[in-house]
Amino acid sequence: MREQLAKIREDALALLSAVKSAAELEELRVRYLGKKGELTAVLKQMGGLPAAERPVMGQLANQVRADIEAKLAEARREVEARALERRLEAEAVDVTVPGKAVDIGHRHPMYVALDEMKEIFIGMGFMVVDGPEIELGELNFDRLNAEPGHPSRDWSDTFYFDKDERVMLRSQTSPMQVRAMDSLPLPIRMVAPGRVYRKDEVDATHSPMFHQVEGMVIDKGVTMADLKGTLNTVVEQLYGKGTRTRFRPHHFPFTEPSCEMDVQCHKCGGVGCPTCKGEGWIELLGAGMIHPHVLEMAGIDPDVWSGWAFGFGLERTAMRRFKIDDLRLIFENDVRFLEQF
Ligand code: PHE
Repeated sequence: MREQLAKIREDALALLSAVKSAAELEELRVRYLGKKGELTAVLKQMGGLPAAERPVMGQLANQVRADIEAKLAEARREVEARALERRLEAEAVDVTVPGKAVDIGHRHPMYVALDEMKEIFIGMGFMVVDGPEIELGELNFDRLNAEPGHPSRDWSDTFYFDKDERVMLRSQTSPMQVRAMDSLPLPIRMVAPGRVYRKDEVDATHSPMFHQVEGMVIDKGVTMADLKGTLNTVVEQLYGKGTRTRFRPHHFPFTEPSCEMDVQCHKCGGVGCPTCKGEGWIELLGAGMIHPHVLEMAGIDPDVWSGWAFGFGLERTAMRRFKIDDLRLIFENDVRFLEQF
């Protein structure tokens, strides 16, 4: 039995020295120290020994168990240390590797132009208001003096939702004049940017959806001179001091008198070039003194109050501001284009 114990000790220690994994370690533990292990098997034979030898053998067996347990613990520490090392190696982060740059977006050029315009108007005491793109025909047309039969109400120009022409996609931001008159206290100074819709084919200067910036002032003693002075100031702030404008007579049903305002061509300085189609001037907006009947329909006394209004084309303003020559670029969202601003 003495030899048996010595052999178990020797074998166990040798095998434990060469252990490589936690699984192997567990296998050896069961094999030597488990209930059905080799050491237990030897101890079971103790009963057959002479009484005098039992304590000596018992002591020896305990010593062998203690040695194997100590070696087992040591081997476990080694296996764990090696596993930790391997994990650290696998998870190592090289903090010196340059990071991946994150693409950060920015405002769309048209909104840059819009924000500039808003700043200018807010600086002059205007408020910015917002309104629905799905609009009543009553506000888009009737309340703006465009009676049934008016050419702008034609189905070839306008997106209606019903055959009675009651609900439509607004074809201009001018219904915001009516909404402002109906809801705001006088005097009023407001601008209302937003989308408008017309049945136009897409080309370099047209789109079935585009943006306008409506503006309106109603106060006592307001004249066409205020309109011209205000718009000239806005244009100089947008496009630089000394930018020249020209006001041409025009017709809108809801303003009287009406005009269109052109700015001198930024490309040729007024001589005439392809950008301005040889005119020297580029049309920027429609404007005029609010028609007395439009004021009356809103319950405003035209003998006490007067006002003017204008409607910018926002895409056009942005195109001039950033020297963009095709409207489609504004809506296509091609990153190669947008990145330039
Ligand atoms: N709503 C007009 C248009 O779409 C522009 C305009 C606005 C004209 C305000 C006069 C006053 O063409």
